[in-house]
This record gives sequence, C-alpha cells and structure tokens, in this order.
Amino acid sequence: MTQPPQDPTTPDPGRAQPVAAVVVLAAGGGTRMKSSLSKLLHRVAGHTMLSYAVSAASALDPQNLVVVVGHNREQVLEHLGEIAPEVRTAVQEEQRGTGHAVGCGLTGLEDIEGEVVVTYGDVPMLTGETLAELVQAHREAGNQATVMTAVITDPTGYGRVIRDSDRVARIVEQKDASPEELEVQEINSGIYVFDAQVLRHGLANLNTDNAQGELYLTDVITIANAEGHRVGAHIIDDLWQTEGVNDRVQLARMNAEMNRRIVEKWQRAGVTVFDPATTWIESEVDLAQDVTLLPNTQLAGATSVATGATIGPDTTLRDVEVGEGATIIRSHAELAVVSAGAVVGPYAHLRPGAVLGEHTTAAGFVAVRNATIGENTTVAPLSYVGGVEVESGTVLQPGAILIDAETIHVNAQTNRPEDQQ
Ligand code: UD1
Ligand code: MG
Repeated sequence: MTQPPQDPTTPDPGRAQPVAAVVVLAAGGGTRMKSSLSKLLHRVAGHTMLSYAVSAASALDPQNLVVVVGHNREQVLEHLGEIAPEVRTAVQEEQRGTGHAVGCGLTGLEDIEGEVVVTYGDVPMLTGETLAELVQAHREAGNQATVMTAVITDPTGYGRVIRDSDRVARIVEQKDASPEELEVQEINSGIYVFDAQVLRHGLANLNTDNAQGELYLTDVITIANAEGHRVGAHIIDDLWQTEGVNDRVQLARMNAEMNRRIVEKWQRAGVTVFDPATTWIESEVDLAQDVTLLPNTQLAGATSVATGATIGPDTTLRDVEVGEGATIIRSHAELAVVSAGAVVGPYAHLRPGAVLGEHTTAAGFVAVRNATIGENTTVAPLSYVGGVEVESGTVLQPGAILIDAETIHVNAQTNRPEDQQ
C-alpha cells in the first residue's frame, strides 16, 4: 500500500458500528486539468488525489468501499490495483450526473442495509476523522440523510443549502437557483451519509428536469424530505477539507496548503525549518527532533532524517535514510543511505544504492551509484564511485573514478585516467 498515512488522531473505527458502504465518485472528466493523465492521479504532497480519497474512506472501515470510475478508467483502475486492490470498482459509462454515478456505485449492493457515505475522489484534504465525525453527527441526530456543509464568503458554483430551521429542505444548484437562493452562503460539500434504503428509493425517483439535464444526487434530499425523513446538515469549519481540485491552479494551491500543514506539524514536533515557503515535505517523510532544514529543501517519498542532521540549502532527497548528525549541502539523493555524521556535498549526486558509512565525506561534485562506502572515508571532489565497495578509512583522490570494482586514478595534470596517458 502506498496510501498516505492517516492522521494518528483518527478514531479507532473498530469501536463503532461500521457503515455499510462508502461510494467514492471518480468518473468525471477533469477536462480543466488539460492533461493526458487522469485528474485523480495528479499528486498532492507526493500522493495521488485518489489515494487520499481511498485512505479517508478506508479509515471508516466500511463493509464495502466502491470507487466509481469512468473517464480515463484504464489509468484509474491500474492505479487502484496498485494502491488498494481490495476496493470494489464500478463503471459509469456515461457521466449522467452525481445521482446516476452513485446508482452505478451501488450496482451489486442492492441489498445492503445501514448507512452509505458518498465522497468524491478529488477532495484530497478530507480526512477519515472528518468522515467519522459526519457519521457520528448523522447517528446522534437520528437522521436518514446528513449533508456535510460549509459556510463560505463566495459560494459561487456550489449547490446552496436551503434550510427549514435545523433541517435541510433541499439543495439547489447554482444553475437552477433563484436570485435569493444565490445569496445563501451555506454550500453543499458533496459529501453525505444516507440511510441505504432512503438513498435507493431517492435514486430510483430522480429525473433530469434541471438546468444541466443531469440526474442530481442532491435531489435525493428533496425526495427524502417529501417522504417525511429527517435530513440534517453537519457544518465543517476547515474549508480545505471540502475543496476539490479542478485545474492546475487549484492543484498548486492545494499542494501549498497541504505542505504548509505538514511543515507546521514538523515544526511543532521540534524540527527547525528556516523557510517554510521553500521547504517541501511529502506526507510519508519522517523527521526526528532537532533536525534542521535550510531553504529550498525537498524531502520526498519514504525519506527519514535522524536527530541533529542538517539538510540544505538547495537539496532534494527521495527515499533517503539520513543518520544522526549528518549534513547534506546543496545535493540530490535518491534511494540512498547517509549514515550518522556523514557529510555530503556541496553538489553531490547520490544515485540509487549509494550507501555512505558513518563520518564519511562525499565532497563537491561527487557522484555515487550502487556502492557501499565504509566509515571514516573521504571521497574527494570530482569523483565517481559506482558498483564497488570501498573499505572504511579509505581516502579517495580528487577525481577518482571507481567503476564496478575497478579503480581508475585520474592524473591531475592531464585530467585523464592514468592508464590512458
Ligand atoms: C456537486 C453538487 C453540488 C456541490 C458540489 C461540491 C450535484 C448535483 N451537485 O456539483 O451541490 O456543491 O458537487 O463540489 O451533485 N461525477 C461522476 N459522475 C457524474 C458526475 C460527477 O462520477 O456523472 C463525480 C465527479 O468526478 C466529481 C463529483 O462527482 O468528483 C462531483 O461532480 P461535479 O460535476 O464536479 O459536481 P458539481 O457540479 O461540482
Ligand atoms: Mg465540481
């Protein structure tokens, strides 16, 4: 599983009665991304948007987890097979609206009893904790349907929540709303909990009698009300959790906000971050107390950094293990190990399989690939080491080239290997 880690505060889902199903809608076109890659496979803090949706849904430990796919479905299904092969998938051939999409998602689940949660695949900040709170609010109020809503200053584009005191009477889409309804600032997040039977009945009675000619899921709310069911709202304050991504401008904003939260989390855990705006930390990275991050540092993948290490400035690490007190200056490393007290850079390139022993130095313009270099070793500037093991305590000459167990010394005057003079 390469899903983003869940917030540790997520309540233990085993304690509550699980919901019958979560349906994640992910069939839409995403045309505004202008991409050959499915919108859902674009990444936020190193993980695909869809992986966040699946991860939040999984945190509820539902009896069934369905992802409804449509556009670009080969890509989406392939990705789901990698990150969460256990989820059910349903195909919506034609995008006939959110109500139709949920109907497709429930194909084969016609007999389920209990609650059905509906979420979207393109709302990466939504957490499992928030979904659990929504379900809890739904249960406590004794509702048959609960809409997650938010009050925002500019509600343009969203469905508006039309209230009847504490109840939700209906949801009206921007394109169908009257001028007074457009003034309403409480919006539909598109995330809901329904009683399964009420949902099924509502879906069976939808029509396309609206401005977009679609089967609106929101009309299930109107139908439920007409039949005397209790429909409520659960207002969420963290607006980012309802925010979808439709284009690359929103994608960048979402990445910046996610990063801001991750950086702040590590600062509060004892990491010094000199310049949060130019420090990018993906969600799976692990940092110890008293790590120092200098400007323009990117930490990606499963990178871990032990206490006292200093990274940056201008450094990118992906899947790198950094030991206690190590220093990495202006360098690039991938799938490498930098042991305690080692010094890397400026301008080093550690390629996959590079392992530096404790207190080893790989100085300026050094490249290392698939090589284990022992402790207390110096790899002097302008050297290349690949496919070899270097004993502890070695001092490699400046400009040394070691390839596949063969040592070639470069003549400092001619700048050519000595055996080619
Ligand atoms: C929908 C809601 C609106 C709400 C908004 C929140 C309806 C009718 N309207 O509007 O009240 O404020 O979300 O973002 O539900 N999808 C499918 N198949 C379809 C249509 C949509 O899978 O046939 C998926 C999309 O991929 C997307 C989600 O459903 O993830 C929402 O679809 P979208 O068309 O963006 O709905 P909105 O018009 O934004
Ligand atoms: Mg939308």
